[in-house]
Amino acid sequence: MKLEDNILDILGKAQKGQGITDRDLCKVANIGVPELNSIRSGRREPAALERISRALGLRPEPISAMANENWQPPSIALPPGVMMFTTPFADLTVNHYLVWDPASLKAVAVDAGTDADALFAALERHKLTLVKIVLTHGHGDHVLELDRIREKTKAPAFAPEAEPIPGCKAVKNGQHFKVGGLTITAHTVPGHSAGGTVYEFRGLETSVAAVGDVIFAGSIGGVRARWKPSLESISAEILTLHPETILLPGHGPVTTVAHEKAHNPFFP
Ligand SMILES: [Fe+2]
Repeated sequence: MKLEDNILDILGKAQKGQGITDRDLCKVANIGVPELNSIRSGRREPAALERISRALGLRPEPISAMANENWQPPSIALPPGVMMFTTPFADLTVNHYLVWDPASLKAVAVDAGTDADALFAALERHKLTLVKIVLTHGHGDHVLELDRIREKTKAPAFAPEAEPIPGCKAVKNGQHFKVGGLTITAHTVPGHSAGGTVYEFRGLETSVAAVGDVIFAGSIGGVRARWKPSLESISAEILTLHPETILLPGHGPVTTVAHEKAHNPFFP
């Protein structure tokens, strides 16, 4: 699966998130406007790219690895009890997930995506009972099929406290849920959205964390406000999880905590 963000997306998110103008970027990076334009048009100019990365507070090594195309997302096998669904959203895609306890066959849907047919088929095929729907955030691409999943399964839905959705119960930071032999812990990580919530699942062969648009393989979801605290809270809530924890993002391929610590340019 293709990465969610290329280098230009990453540079753009860092610049926008920090409110840096093009003029200031040129000044701080000590480059001319033609060099900036050249990078933006997709040319590889390692020295200018390194200066721009540093000026934006990004780690230059992963950026240059991506520029040289010798960076690939890791190939990860999901443990039994985890299924990923990728559904279309305009010319992009959005991921939603089913996580279940293989012993009791009780399942949790994470987000709703834009087409729940494959989720309904999986519930039937694996003889699962959907007992909860948990939402990482309220952006339209993640909740489009919420009503249909709710109607068909009658499962209660939960949304972040800071992003109330009619008919959903509020999820607080640090809240725990038990589903069969699984324990789910909610971590609130605001930044991309007001109450972006990460759901950490323990009790599977390998722990997984559904991260919504908080972090992607090699990037992060666009941050609208409070840049520094947002990055700090991603570090504190996600990058401190066990390194083998598999991260299930709302867009792009799955990754691991260890991989993001090594390769994500937004973190030192
Ligand atoms: Fe989002």
